[in-house]
Amino acid sequence: KFTKPKSILEVGTAIGFSALLMSEYAPGDCHITTIEKYEKRIPIAKENFRKAGREDRITLLEGDATEILRELEGTYDVIFMDAAKGQYIHFLPDILRLLAPGGLLISDNVLQDGDIIESRFAVTRRNRTIHARMREYLYELKHHPELETVILPVGDGVTLSTKKEESTVTQNK
Ligand SMILES: C[S@@+](CC[C@H](N)C(=O)[O-])C[C@H]1O[C@@H](n2cnc3c(N)ncnc32)[C@H](O)[C@@H]1O
Repeated sequence: KFTKPKSILEVGTAIGFSALLMSEYAPGDCHITTIEKYEKRIPIAKENFRKAGREDRITLLEGDATEILRELEGTYDVIFMDAAKGQYIHFLPDILRLLAPGGLLISDNVLQDGDIIESRFAVTRRNRTIHARMREYLYELKHHPELETVILPVGDGVTLSTKKEESTVTQNK
């Protein structure tokens, strides 16, 4: 609501709850594009968009975000990252390309029940890959020259990153 986006990209629709919520608070001319790969959730999300009368404002792209993100063009004012946590780091180059200067990237579930601050040896073996990838993702968000990021301990952890305007990036080099 605060950023008044004209375009939103969501990675991870599930059944459309957050897409509908965002459409509620975004300006009336804002278009939401959302990506989901799980075929059982796609028809439910579509039906929810239809029932809410939001089909014209929300486009559901069906398939794996790894491929879909690569093919998307243009830029988005807000990007909401809410898919498989271990993949965020792999999505990041495309996300940065697709985020408009001055745009906002919101990443959900980044703190892994607090495990993220623990050493990798304190994390169960099966969680170590995701732990390493999420730490790498947070490091990139905090150190990337084009981004300004805060990590908020809300829910299971949310980051808010703004993409600097081009002139600011040059000044900071
Ligand atoms: C936490 S849920 C999304 C919840 C939704 N954003 C909301 O708040 O209502 C994550 C979703 O991301 C989807 N997902 C995970 N990895 C994906 C990928 N690589 N491409 C597309 N969708 C993916 C999952 O199938 C799941 O439905």
